[in-house]
Amino acid sequence: MATSNNTQQKYDKISELKAFDDTKGGVKGLIDGGITKLPQIFIHPHDSLKKIPKNSNFIFPLIDLQNININNKEIVKQIQEASETWGFFQVINHGIPVPVLDEMLRGTRRFHEQDIDVRKPYYSRDVARKVMYNCNFELFSEKSFAADWRDSLYSVMAPDPAKPEELPETCREIIIEYSNHVMKLGYTLVELFSKGLGLKPNHLKEMGCAEGLGILCNYYPKCPQPELALGSSRHADSDFFTVLLQDDIGGLQVLHKNQWVDVPPIHGALIINIGDILQLISNDKYKSVDHRVLANKIGPRISVASFFSTGLLESSRIYGPIEELLSKDNPPKYRATTLKDFFEYSSKKGFDNNSNLSHYKI
Ligand code: OGA
Ligand code: NI
Repeated sequence: MATSNNTQQKYDKISELKAFDDTKGGVKGLIDGGITKLPQIFIHPHDSLKKIPKNSNFIFPLIDLQNININNKEIVKQIQEASETWGFFQVINHGIPVPVLDEMLRGTRRFHEQDIDVRKPYYSRDVARKVMYNCNFELFSEKSFAADWRDSLYSVMAPDPAKPEELPETCREIIIEYSNHVMKLGYTLVELFSKGLGLKPNHLKEMGCAEGLGILCNYYPKCPQPELALGSSRHADSDFFTVLLQDDIGGLQVLHKNQWVDVPPIHGALIINIGDILQLISNDKYKSVDHRVLANKIGPRISVASFFSTGLLESSRIYGPIEELLSKDNPPKYRATTLKDFFEYSSKKGFDNNSNLSHYKI
């Protein structure tokens, strides 16, 4: 009997997800429709939300990149330490003008707040598309606990970028301008990451770690019952590294020493985090750390995540622990994989609080 009950529940969940997805209006559409109670598909099981305590005593790493150059030993050391312990840090004086950041946030908001009929043509789950808008890439993943209370616009910006006319008019110019800035910052970061690993400065660059860029423009509407939902479920990023821009509302939390730590919003700053693939190729020296975003009664909250992966998703390029980092005492901890395989595995698995990396552990 239990089995048939479960099957019935699963069936209902899938049809509810499908009905919601078919509206092509995302969470924003629900709010515009005036809902006051959270639909079941967004409700997390109680214990997945409450188990881990929050700690407000840790100081989230903040690194000043003023006068940055790769021979600046102090900055290299700060980035290395943060990458090894937190897997996350915030940077100021990173070279991207603050008005560009502000306009990127405004452009994201403009896209998500335009009429549903203008948004709808972008709504898709076709990964072959270079520009798409949807609510939860992982909406139909098998193991995800619940759908995230957020909508996102995704654009591939390097190495084979979306054509300008494919980008929504409301944010076209700023996405292009912002991506150009983020690419430059990405090249600086991979040099610093390489140095921090004791490799030659262009090692990660030559591996293609800053070649591919995907920009995710997130919109987290206000939530009628924020204690039951999450804006982003607990996850680690499955890229090399991520550059995140957030507005001043807050809600991003990072798991540090098994406690949730708030990432304080700082106007003009950017958050950098290590992704799964950089943890894999650094053989666990750098950490890809779980994070999540709380849902909030206040909103919308806007954020823009820039994911660095390889542009050669379809290629057979293989990534494993970097040979120069290995020794008799430090044997490879992971088997090599293509990024295509890694992404396919992680998106099928969904957000179930388990690391994607464990699947590749030796
Ligand atoms: C992500 C992410 C955090 C945020 O998109 O992977 O972690 O603040 N976003 O939106
Ligand atoms: Ni993330």
